[in-house]
Amino acid sequence: MRVLVTGGAGFIGSNFVHQTVRERPDVQVTVLDALTYAGDRESLAPVADKVALVEGSITDAALVDGLVASSDLVVHFAAESHNDNSLNDPSPFVQTNLVGTFTLLEAVRKHGVRFHHISTDEVYGDLELDDPAKFTPTTPYNPSSPYSSTKAGSDLLVRAWVRSFGVQATISNCSNNYGPYQHIEKFIPRQITNLIDGVRPKLYGAGQNVRDWIHVEDHNSAVWAIIEKGRIGETYLIGADGEKNNLEVVETLLEIFGLAKTDFEHVNDRPGHDLRYAIDASKLRDELGWTPRYTDFRTGLEATVDWYRANESWWRPAKEATEARYAAQGQ
Ligand code: NAD
Ligand code: DAU
Repeated sequence: MRVLVTGGAGFIGSNFVHQTVRERPDVQVTVLDALTYAGDRESLAPVADKVALVEGSITDAALVDGLVASSDLVVHFAAESHNDNSLNDPSPFVQTNLVGTFTLLEAVRKHGVRFHHISTDEVYGDLELDDPAKFTPTTPYNPSSPYSSTKAGSDLLVRAWVRSFGVQATISNCSNNYGPYQHIEKFIPRQITNLIDGVRPKLYGAGQNVRDWIHVEDHNSAVWAIIEKGRIGETYLIGADGEKNNLEVVETLLEIFGLAKTDFEHVNDRPGHDLRYAIDASKLRDELGWTPRYTDFRTGLEATVDWYRANESWWRPAKEATEARYAAQGQ
């Protein structure tokens, strides 16, 4: 099978490529990635001899058309993915997340190629901290940020292309991922690399916001389950019952580094900061028989800390500029 992976040099996409090469030797992988600040050729270095990397944008219709024509499946990870960046400049989010997804949909429609769209739980907005509810596939869309609204729009494009044009697509909406190769602008790797540098972790506001953490390998095993067993046109929510507030995550990291639980700083909060995300993944578990492997968050976090300690050459080049951007916002 020939698989085109968009955004395969980013965090989740590169982990997907590694896992696919490791577990599915019959799959031939081509990555299409614009290598933005968030994409790194080095993230594919361990599989460089087994994977073709095409540098280019998913908004380039001619390039996309040619690559899709020679694929059996497109797995679409490419996106502008960081909420804080979308608050500073929404424009690349509209281009990549909306125009890019449209461009891919037109190509899979033309060539009759199976499509899997990777999306986020943020399309559903947020839940109250004391609400026992979780997101389900029927929760109404209510995105808060330019990032999540462009992801919501991209999901709706996929649904419309399925219904109007018979495109063979599935959608997954996953909760917050952690693991190796995550850009250090994101919460967990930012704090790990701060701690490695002897800098105190930075908590937005009071740290009460809740995220539903899942290890990236569990996200990607669920994506393969949906590709292989999911029903066309369906949306599957991916999550592993990993709810933690941000303060708890920082405290666990401080413990792993042998520091006092209070050894962090409060910094400016994110405007419009979503309170809580929580996924009900029962459709994925019951219908497709998927289960996560990383059920102990602390163990997964320790392995992630070890990875950042062992791979400083991967993250170090981005650290100074990333922190300078945050410092300019009092974060
Ligand atoms: P990331 O920012 O680490 O990687 C995105 C990749 O897309 C990068 O390699 C980048 O170079 C590439 N890219 C950006 N614009 C492009 C364009 N125009 N053309 C081609 N490539 C382009 O993101 P991530 O965290 O790996 O997220 C991947 C996908 O998963 C996204 O669609 C995101 O919305 C979704 N998602 C992420 C999470 C999470 O916790 N990180 C959770 C749920 C869903
Ligand atoms: O829910 C899925 C989403 O998870 C994905 O769609 C996004 O692509 C991904 O970036 C992530 O979005 P979040 O905004 O939840 O992730 P982020 O890592 O930016 O922040 C996680 C939480 O930590 C959030 O409540 C903000 C907070 N935070 C973040 C940073 C960078 C801090 O307290 N301090 C920080 O330094």
